[in-house]
Formats: sequence, structure tokens, C-alpha cells
Amino acid sequence: MTAPPPTSRQVCAACGRVFSETDPRLQCECGGLLELRHEHSGLTGAALRALFDDRRGAAHGPFRSGVWRYREMVLPTAGDDVVTYPEGNTPLLRRPAVTAWAGATDLWLKHEGHNPTGSFKDRGMTVGLTQARRIGATAVACASTGNTGAALGAYAALAGLPALAFVPKGHVALGKLMQLVAYGVRTLLVNGDFDVCQELAHASSDQLGVYLLNSINPFRLEGQKTIVLELLQQLDWEPPDWIVVPAGNLGNTASFGKALAEARDWGLITKIPRIAAVQAEGAAPFALSYREGFARRHRVEAHTVATAIRIGNPASYERAVRAIRETDGVVTTVTDDEMLEAKAVIDAAGVGCEPASAASVAGTRRLIRERIIGTGQRVVAVLTGHLLKDPESVIRYHQETEAAPPGANRPIEIEPRLADVERVLAAAPNLRR
Ligand code: F0G
Repeated sequence: MTAPPPTSRQVCAACGRVFSETDPRLQCECGGLLELRHEHSGLTGAALRALFDDRRGAAHGPFRSGVWRYREMVLPTAGDDVVTYPEGNTPLLRRPAVTAWAGATDLWLKHEGHNPTGSFKDRGMTVGLTQARRIGATAVACASTGNTGAALGAYAALAGLPALAFVPKGHVALGKLMQLVAYGVRTLLVNGDFDVCQELAHASSDQLGVYLLNSINPFRLEGQKTIVLELLQQLDWEPPDWIVVPAGNLGNTASFGKALAEARDWGLITKIPRIAAVQAEGAAPFALSYREGFARRHRVEAHTVATAIRIGNPASYERAVRAIRETDGVVTTVTDDEMLEAKAVIDAAGVGCEPASAASVAGTRRLIRERIIGTGQRVVAVLTGHLLKDPESVIRYHQETEAAPPGANRPIEIEPRLADVERVLAAAPNLRR
């Protein structure tokens, strides 16, 4: 007879009240957010590392997924009955041009844009939809700047459930809007920003009975923890000094803190990397709070070209504060110009990412210049979304911005004449063999 799988429960992060694993509520009566606690597998850190290493490269079943490979730490009771694409297994890259631009010596890029719908959101959605199915939800919904909605759509289709998304009209990148429509999401273009969408989605959950899969849903965060678990595994369980991540609604920052604390408590690692959360300067309520020692929560009217993180009132504030405190982390900001320049460098290295993702590399450069990240320290910067999510930002940068920005690659219009080609080659002799 095999032992039953370890159980999990939900605990209110504010008052400590305990709820069953299948309780569908998203918030405690006290207003606190819920988080999952999994019963310890009983395995030593070394045994757990060996188990995870063993599952890598599985050809069949749930362990093909870079989320479910870590199921003891994600949702042990889900067993093999999971809604998986599969997802995860994203590459950890090194690109000398990006390292040099950031002024780093040991910089790795964890490219979450290589997930099935092109962003890290798939890692949360595989768990979110698995849980939605377990509790018998008949439809799912979210507020989104685009990526969450795209992932929701693809995974809802996989689970055979209808999906609803609230998105800010005029502030969703083209690639994402296209995915929402294509995957069959009932898409509400809300006349308001993301924060307004989020409030409307919460009210619809409270009063109209829609099941929300935003990142306040604790099951989403369990999936997103695997970004950290997977990068640790890719580094042979030798933790880097820093993990740098773009920060908007703060779901990732919160889940990274939880992943690291659990990885230490379960014996996977002994040293905890420091988290650096990077916000766009025009959308930086979390950075404002950080500068005041987290004395109070801020809400701002958000403005940035990086529509993914155009968020003024982040939902996972409290748990992200904990993540920064527990990892001796920092919060910084970058300007839109810095972010776009970083993006141009990442793109030109053949890697590519969407604007918000480049905040991690721009933030790395800033923290190195400020000597917060030391020379020689190992840094993993997370690229959260794919280049093709936001094609308009690329065209704007390279083709339409007057006074060409750094790295601008202007297309050249020619007549179909060899003489025109020759003129171009004369100006750029490196194009000849
Ligand atoms: N990068 C990308 C590409 C994103 O889509 C998001 C968030 C973030 C970073 C910020 O992550 O919210 O966990 O701090 N996108 C959400 C969405 C808000 O609706 O797709 P966070």
C-alpha cells in the first residue's frame, strides 16, 4: 500500500485562519489574502533534488511540465490529473552583449517568454485551471494587462471552460489582444486603467459569482514559484546572488519570496538569493513604499510604455513586502528610456522580449552602477514575456522615434535596382562576405 500524498491547506496571511485546500474563496473575512501551505514530503533536500533531477526530460505525463516536475512544492494532491500544456522548461541564457551593456560579469537571462502563450503566466494558469476544475468551477475570469488574459484563454480552452477578461481599453499590446480574441476569451474592453479593471473584476467575483484567476488567487502563485525552482535547478542548485524581476501587480515578487523561503526550509538550498524588484518610474507605488521602509502602501496613477506593468495599486502588496524583507531584497525603478534601450540590446542579441521584461536588465544595470549589486556577483534577470507580444513598441522605437534612439535599426526603402543595393553596401561594408 502506498502512503497517501501529503495534504495542503490555505492559510490567511493576515490573521492565520485556516481553510481547506478546496475552499473556493479568494480572501479571508478579515480581508487578508490566502496562501497555500503544503505538508512536508518527508524527503531530505538531497532526495528532493534527486527526485526533481530525475523527472527532468520526462517524455510522458505531468513531469513533462516545468511546473508539475516540482509538484510536492506546488500542489501535491493534484496527482496526475492536471491541466497542462505542458509549460515551463524555459531556457536560462547568457548573452555577452547583454552582460556588457548591464556592466555585469555573470548575468543570466531566464526567458519566460518561451512558455506556450509567450509569458510566465502559463506557470500560474496550469495550477489555477487545475484547481478551478477540482472545485467544479464552470467558468473563469481575470483582470489583465494582457498576458494573464492570454494564458487564461489558452488554459481555459484546454480545460473546456469559458473565460472572461477585463482589460484596459487602449492599453493592451497588440499581440496579447490578438491572443485573447483568438483563444475565444469573452473580452471586455473597459474604459479605465488596469486598476479599474481589477476593482471591477473583484466586484464581479463578490457579487456576480465569477471565479477569479488573478494573482491574488493563491494557486496561481504556487505555479509561478517554479520560475525560481527551475532556475535553481538549472544552476545545479547553486543559488545566484540576485534574482531581478519586473514588478507590477507584485504576484511574481511575492511568489519568488515564497519559493525561496520554502526551498531553504525544504533543504534544496542553504543560501537565499536577494530579490530585486524593478518598477517603471511612472508606475512605482511599491518602490515609493520601499523608500519609506514600507511605512505605508501607496497608490499612484500609472503611466509607462510598458503596458504590462502599468499598474498603480498592486494587489499582492503585503506579501511582496514580506518577500523583499525575507530575502534582504531591494526595490528600484527604471525610466521608460532605460527600459527601451535595454530591450533594444536584448532584442539585437537575438533573444527579444517585451518592454516590461527589459526592466529586469535595465534594473540590473542601475543596481550595478549604484554598487548595490557587486562586481562579480551572479545575477539572474527574469524576462517575463516574448518579443512578439508588443510589436508596436518595436516599430515605434526603431522606425518612428525622431532623433534615432540608441540601437535604432531603421529599415531602408529602395527601388528594385542593384545600384540601390550597392549604395547600401557601400555605407555598410560589413554586410559583404
Ligand atoms: N512582465 C510581464 C510581461 C507581465 O505581463 C506582468 C504582469 C509583469 C511583468 C508584472 O508581474 O504583476 O507579477 O508583478 N502582467 C499582468 C497581466 C498584470 O495582467 O498580464 P507581476
